[in-house]
Amino acid sequence: MTDISRKKVVLGVTGGVAAYKAAELVRRLGEANIEVHVVMTQAACGFITPATMQALSGNPVYTDMWDARIANSMAHIELSRDKAAIVIAPATADFMAKLVHGLADDLLSTLCLARDCPLLVAPAMNRQMWEHPATQRNVKKLAEDGVTILGPASGDQACGEIGQGRMLEAQDIADAVAAFLAPKSLSGVRVLMTAGPTFEAIDAVRGITNRSSGKMGYAIARAAIGAGAKVTLVSGPTSQQLPVGATVTPVQSAAEMFDAVKRNAKNADIFIGVAAVADYRVDKPREHKIKKTEKTALTLKLVPNPDILAWVAAQPKPPFTVGFAAESQHLETYADEKRRRKKVQLIVANLAQAAIGADDNEVMLLDDSGTRKLMRAPKEMVAKDIVAHIATLYHSAKKRR
Ligand code: CTP
Repeated sequence: MTDISRKKVVLGVTGGVAAYKAAELVRRLGEANIEVHVVMTQAACGFITPATMQALSGNPVYTDMWDARIANSMAHIELSRDKAAIVIAPATADFMAKLVHGLADDLLSTLCLARDCPLLVAPAMNRQMWEHPATQRNVKKLAEDGVTILGPASGDQACGEIGQGRMLEAQDIADAVAAFLAPKSLSGVRVLMTAGPTFEAIDAVRGITNRSSGKMGYAIARAAIGAGAKVTLVSGPTSQQLPVGATVTPVQSAAEMFDAVKRNAKNADIFIGVAAVADYRVDKPREHKIKKTEKTALTLKLVPNPDILAWVAAQPKPPFTVGFAAESQHLETYADEKRRRKKVQLIVANLAQAAIGADDNEVMLLDDSGTRKLMRAPKEMVAKDIVAHIATLYHSAKKRR
């Protein structure tokens, strides 16, 4: 399996109530294969303890400039030296103001001033503090200084108000940090993809669907965004969190999915069909709920749905086209037959029973150069490997044109 090199970051936690979300952020960053070293301000320690952050990150937590664990009292320099980035989450209004002015009166602010790596901040504060001209000036200045601002989101606030200023969810911050750190193998490349199941109505309340959680497709969307791609995601109904940075078109049926793909296909460099599209739909779905009649059997007439992937691959100037094959047996043989029949450059094959609903997946990549197997791993990691493979094939196919 392609090795995804483990990156290290400093997670700086400042004193806001959103500090509780920093604990989950440590977990989510770990899942994204990012090693976390936590530095907390004194105020942050009033909201969450260093012991919690130490237990979750598995690394010592630093709060003090004069920490004797680092030689020569150089914590403010040493701690960021081998790090890919410093991420401040939550970043209070006060801490952002300090960053703007280059103040360095505690370990975290000094670390930010003495850093030689990128800085990302996730603001978290009350709505009025966020909207205050001073904060807005500071955010603008930080962005001008090359600092990446993540969020904030709007919604319910700890103070009882509703509005802009609450910190992004931990998963969104972790995704954004992972995307920031990922190699940009698809920089500026336009990726159109489908994900999730489709839902084919029988009547007003019933339908036919496929067992697909959308996890793999959404993980690929995130990995592609991380690799610098501009992602348009046509998604069937799922309960997955929307990937930050993707343009998402939600659909229900295969026909709607097909329409959305047709609208976007011309502008795509790469198409990835991850969706578990229903092969059939009900001929004439009823507008109203079908009432039960106990004595007669109910017969539904099913008609075939268009094959979206095959349609994309058959276009006069098709994008680089990637399909998925979910098989329950004879994986390699069936998947390769599918690749040839649908005329796609790459098929990602998996055993349906091993993948559906699971957090892990084990896939096989089949293209003109042969078959390679990826080890069983969390879908996020598998997705990164798939995207890396797509990027390699896409760039070499482009060179040959
Ligand atoms: N696919 C599609 N449109 C369809 C059916 C499938 O775009 N109507 C795409 C899927 O998104 C996937 C690939 O085709 O990328 C293979 O899907 P799969 O369900 O495994 O194959 P089928 O073509 O449906 O063949 P079979 O059901 O016979 O295995």
